[in-house]
This record gives sequence, structure tokens and C-alpha cells, in this order.
Amino acid sequence: MAPVATLPTPARTPNPEVKSLKGRVHQGPWSELNDIPDPFEGITEPADPSLLPEGFPAQIEGPGAWDGPELEKRPEEWIHVLTAEELAEIEQNVESFENSGRPFSEINKETFPLSFFSSKTLPGLTDELFDGRGFFLLRGLPVEKWSREQSAIAFLGIGSHIGLRTPQNFKGHVLGHVKDLGYDIKEVGVRPYQTRITQSFHTDNSHVVALLSLKQAKSGGESAIAPFYTIYNHIAKYRPDLIHTLAQDWYGDWKNEHGPNEKPYRKLPALFSHKGKIIYTNPGFFASAPRHEGVPPVRRAQWEVSKAIQSLAQEHAIRMLMQPGDYQYVNNMKVLHSRESFEDYEDVNEKRHLLRLWLRCCPPEFKGWEYPEILDTERVYSTFSTADGFEHTYPLEAE
Ligand SMILES: [Fe+2]
Repeated sequence: MAPVATLPTPARTPNPEVKSLKGRVHQGPWSELNDIPDPFEGITEPADPSLLPEGFPAQIEGPGAWDGPELEKRPEEWIHVLTAEELAEIEQNVESFENSGRPFSEINKETFPLSFFSSKTLPGLTDELFDGRGFFLLRGLPVEKWSREQSAIAFLGIGSHIGLRTPQNFKGHVLGHVKDLGYDIKEVGVRPYQTRITQSFHTDNSHVVALLSLKQAKSGGESAIAPFYTIYNHIAKYRPDLIHTLAQDWYGDWKNEHGPNEKPYRKLPALFSHKGKIIYTNPGFFASAPRHEGVPPVRRAQWEVSKAIQSLAQEHAIRMLMQPGDYQYVNNMKVLHSRESFEDYEDVNEKRHLLRLWLRCCPPEFKGWEYPEILDTERVYSTFSTADGFEHTYPLEAE
């Protein structure tokens, strides 16, 4: 077997080795949940908190345990409208980076210096992202005036002050695109962001995900984000057994986006208690993982806790229609997100379109958390690791 470091150029198509799917391959909405009764039905009294796994609190206090319908009434708390001074600095950086002729891969804190924004505004926003509510929205980037390239420079440039870019798929995209490509979600290797289906609540495979809205759908496409800590508090109070379920190993289907020497699935807990923090990781694509040899069937308790998370997320979510120029940051370790299905315009240039970044946010270079070792490696999030020579790519259009 060739050493990992000398792997050839990454395959540009999903691994073809698995031909049939025994389970569902997308995140939702799961029809399986319809068969699961309400996990809290008939429960009227809180459970004994000592039934929780060791190290897991009875309740998580603080700003991360928010309620969406309440926060929707106070958008000024989580939407930062860029000031004229901030926009001038961003536009100046976009212009000078564009004129430098450098490739996108060289966008970083030094080549896109935001001395004003990063000293005055960003610390408060990243405090919210990691120690507060777990998300924020920047409003006002002039994407309708900018070229696609200029929007991408601003998107990557601001993001470079928040974390390190990580690949989002087997093509090595670090500049990702959320756009309907007309694909069928039932096809092997198709992910929900390439379609216009409803996506149930989930988190992405990175510490932080950022989205910049370029175009809105003709109708629909509403986004929602939901507080995991509020969800945790309800489950811990009434069904502590399901916290055990989350803290045990889950198998996740790589959906054929695994490297040549990798297993086609990953295995890790969905919930960690680490250095005083509760850390949630999406047990993504668990429903289809058992199609792989060596993966046990999905347990009923896993469906039960999935149903609990979906229904509590619906109840406590903030819903929003992202406008062109809205730039959202979400901490994947404490906030879930979803999207409604949508209708698009016929014109390909008018279709709903968002740019996406996946970021690793580790101190001391960036504001972030201390993660358990298993969550502090690129390999957890993508088997196409840069350590194996897989290149980062920056397509300007969805592909
Ligand atoms: Fe997502």
C-alpha cells in the first residue's frame, strides 16, 4: 500500500464501490420519525438528574439556552448592520486583494487586514459565537453591486479572521456553494445543499459554518437556526436516558465521499462533556450508515432522540429569510440549522445561491473552544484531509 502522503490527485467522483443503498441517504425530513411516538408523551414529572451520564449537567444555564420566538422580537441583538466605516474598510480590502492578482488560497488575515473591524466589532461577535448565543448575522455587504469574485474575496477575507478554511466535500471545495443543481437526493453522492429539498435540523461537519446570501429563491427557502442547549435542557430534564444515547457512539455514512484508504463511515459520540462545555456533533447520515459492513442497525433510542431534537428545534428556532448580502455565522457545536424547500427562478443566474465556509476555530490563533482530541482534527470532518495532499479548491460557481 502506498504511503498516505503520496496519494495521487483526489478522485473527483464519489467512490463507486457501494452500488446499493439500504437506508435513506439524506438528512430529512425522515419518514422514519413519523413512526416514532412523541418521546415525552405521558411524562409529567422531571426525572431524577442523577440518571444523567457522569459529567453532564442537569441544565445548561447561560446565553446559549435561548428561545427563538423570543429572540426574533429582538433582531438588533443578533443582527449587526455593517457601518459605513466597516464597509469602507472591507471594500478597500476587496479592491486591493483583487488588484494584487493573488489566488484565493492566499486570502488570510495578513492579505485581508481588517484593523478597524477586527479590533472594534469582531471580538464582540466572536464572543457571541463561542460564549454566547452561538450565532450572529452581518447585514449589508453590497453583493448585488459586486462581481462574484469580489463577493468571494470579501466572504473569504472576513472568514479568515474567524477560523481556518476546511474542505466541504470530496472535490476539496473550501469556497462552497449552496445551490440547487437539479440533482436527485436519492442518487449516491448527492448532498442536500445541491438540491431544493427541505433539510431537517442538523449541524455541519466543522466547528463553524458561515453562509453569504447572494440570491434569494423565487419563493420559500426560509432558514432556521435552533439552540442545542435549550433542546438539551428539555431532554435532560425528562428523558435523561436519551442523553446517554447521544453520548454513545453513532455511525455516520460518508456517502461515498471517503478517501481510498478510509472506512466508508465514521464513528463517534454525538455529545461530549469536555472541560466544562457540552459539545454537540451532528450524527449525520446515521440512517444510511448500516448499509456498510460492520455498522450495527440504528437503535430505537437513536430515532427517539432524533425525533426529540427535531421537534424541540422546531419549537425553539429562529426563522429568517436571508437577504442578498446577509452573512451568517453559526457555531456547529451548539446551534443547529435547517432550510425549507423552495421554488427557483428559471434563469440560472437568478437561482437561490449562497456561498458557504466551513471553519476550524482553535485557540490561540482564533477565538474558539478547546475540543476533545477527536473533534480537533480535520479527519473527523472530512476524510479528504489536506494531510493526504488533497487540494483546496475555490470554484466561483456551484459544481
Ligand atoms: Fe448544513
